[in-house]
Amino acid sequence: MNQPIYLDYNATTPCDPRVVQAMLPYFTEIYGNPANGLHILGRKAAQAVETAREQVAELIKAQPSEIFFTSGATESNHLAILGSSEYAPPSRRKIITCAIEHKAVLAPCKRLEERGFEVVFLPVDENGVVRLSALEKALDESTFLVSIQSANNEIGTIQPIAEIVFMAHSHGVLVHTDAAQAVGKIAVDVNAWGVDLLSPSAHKMYGPKGVGALYVRGGIRKIPIRPLLEGGGQERGLRAGTSNVPGIVGLGKACEISCSEMSSESLRLQTLRDELEKRLLENIPHLRINGRFAPRLPNTSSLTFEEDTDVLLLRLPQLMMSTGSACNTGAPEPSHVLQAIGLTRKQASSSIRISLGRLTTADDIHFVAHQFSSVVSQIE
Ligand SMILES: Cc1ncc(COP(=O)(O)O)c(C=O)c1O
Repeated sequence: MNQPIYLDYNATTPCDPRVVQAMLPYFTEIYGNPANGLHILGRKAAQAVETAREQVAELIKAQPSEIFFTSGATESNHLAILGSSEYAPPSRRKIITCAIEHKAVLAPCKRLEERGFEVVFLPVDENGVVRLSALEKALDESTFLVSIQSANNEIGTIQPIAEIVFMAHSHGVLVHTDAAQAVGKIAVDVNAWGVDLLSPSAHKMYGPKGVGALYVRGGIRKIPIRPLLEGGGQERGLRAGTSNVPGIVGLGKACEISCSEMSSESLRLQTLRDELEKRLLENIPHLRINGRFAPRLPNTSSLTFEEDTDVLLLRLPQLMMSTGSACNTGAPEPSHVLQAIGLTRKQASSSIRISLGRLTTADDIHFVAHQFSSVVSQIE
């Protein structure tokens, strides 16, 4: 096997060819501006955007009127956190988040801290699950927002969002969840969870890069949000800028495909991931699998080795993996997620994330398991 194997689907996924096909006419044929209903090309583009809104809503069990298109989960997280907090009453100036959030959540929270908000970073247990007792302690009548991710990008831990929402709502507190890694991988039902704000991203679920959405329960009349971008009033005033029609169509198509294929695909990936971990554990002494004893994304495996990962990666040039989070461009710091679950700096920098996806085959898994085992045994 000489082809390199892509094992980095949590960083980004290839665009599904069906998604590309759906997008293509909107570059060259139906290129109208959806804000202009005066002519047929504008109206067709607007129709396509509304169809995509329905497709996104269907996947997460929302109403189309609750979906707002953005440039991705980073923007959606900023919009949810910064935009909603503009309307926080003076008596509610506390935000609660957690230690293993993606930087696309930590950064806007830090911005609010600079603006005088109190920000609480909840600890997690050794599997990466938020400590609910700490949440209970932190929640009070001065809290405005809780922002906790649905699933972690590095270790895959899935948070108990419905319980978090129940606790927060009993204090009249809004809940946002960064669902960039969850939507398309696990069942997401905004009503079963009860969340107020939720951020999906297209490129994590076989859609194009640079497009995402924000779910707002009941729309922006119910939950007022100050836009980050103002101008032409697109997206009902929440997000100005000419709509990225091909991208939005692609996100919609990716959601439609997930609706019909996600449950069987997730099962397939979990079987492959479990087989890989079983074989690695059999052959590599002292291997640690992070987050193993908590509910986890079916495609994700975070591995901590005794061996130096630089040496391992050098000897495994065919495997395209990631150390820590590939979304943190070139960050040399050991992962804050792995340190938050109790790993030392050295352990955190001796870790590799493998994330599987639609193109991963059983043959790939056998090859990967064999490669790791033989390289580790050569180093020892
Ligand atoms: C958990 C999480 N949140 C947010 C993001 C950022 O998403 P986007 O690239 O759509 O801005 C990522 C990935 O980069 C992620 O894994």
